[in-house]
Amino acid sequence: MPETLELNRKTMPDADAAREFALSLDIVRVAEEAAIASFAQIGRGDEKAADQAAVDAMRTALNAIDMDGRIVIGEGERDEAPMLYIGEKVGTGKGPAIDIALDPLEGTTLAAKAMANALAVIAFAPRGGLLHAPDTYMDKIAIGPGYAPGIVDLDASPEDNVRALAKAKGVDVSEIVACVLDRPRHDRIITSLRQAGARVHLITDGDVAGVIHTAQPETGIDIYIGAGGAPEGVLACAALKCVGGQFQGRLMFRNDAERRRAEAIGLTDFDRKYDLNDLVSGDAVFIATGVTHGALLRGVQKETTLSGATFMTTESLVMMSKTHTVRKLSMRRPLKV
Ligand code: FBP
Repeated sequence: MPETLELNRKTMPDADAAREFALSLDIVRVAEEAAIASFAQIGRGDEKAADQAAVDAMRTALNAIDMDGRIVIGEGERDEAPMLYIGEKVGTGKGPAIDIALDPLEGTTLAAKAMANALAVIAFAPRGGLLHAPDTYMDKIAIGPGYAPGIVDLDASPEDNVRALAKAKGVDVSEIVACVLDRPRHDRIITSLRQAGARVHLITDGDVAGVIHTAQPETGIDIYIGAGGAPEGVLACAALKCVGGQFQGRLMFRNDAERRRAEAIGLTDFDRKYDLNDLVSGDAVFIATGVTHGALLRGVQKETTLSGATFMTTESLVMMSKTHTVRKLSMRRPLKV
């Protein structure tokens, strides 16, 4: 464990820890169900159907849990999303008051095209612990744990950031790998990174995983740079808060309608540079289940035995910021229960 995390480690009363663990296991089931439901749509080219299957399953599973849950990041505003909309109450209403950020299928295109790294993602924190981010873009920069604060900065150039990171890591800049979403809007960033000597790892979708990869040395990714969804920024921060790392983000508005959407949820400073603790101020639990195989998790697997019984297997990550615990859970169950 990085020294900084060890120093910050808090102890938790046993009863609180047990309650948080029990709720986390309930919520892992929610992500597992969403992943299994979208499995039937993998590779079928229908993004909407894949997403809908995950949304339906996630909502049903959430509503079976004893909790007073409130969606703060979900499928959209109430008028555009009939299910898992922002502000929707989920759970039986009995139990802990928690705020929930979710993306039932992070990487709808990845799932529809049977490409790597589609995930079912959900994070929760005590009420008020997650920023209610509007459904706009966010300019993001993230690095993994172990660096002194402020080594990279959203407002510095990509060249300066990778050079500073290389110096802090004690390597030549040619050893630095930057993960960037492959979009025309990032052409200048990609060119600058390569001119500085860094390698660029392009992803077609899925920047929640892209940000988390900075905290996973085995991926080889040192830094994430570029604009992606603001809700995905909050979800990724919930994960980084558990494993350590730095993140900065700024909302990006393409038009007045998006600005109004931000105002409607109480945001006033449109130029604000948010850091990890602004986006996730409370202790959070981050959960993801693999839909398709990827660097983070194995995807859903379906297996039929010689006797004709069908089983579904999933792999999930459960991370807790309070204890900096990271668990990987495998689940196998009959297709119909
Ligand atoms: P969806 O699952 O909603 O399709 O989002 C996938 C994603 O790649 C996110 O990970 C990322 O933040 C966002 O889309 C980027 O948006 P865009 O595709 O418009 O560049």
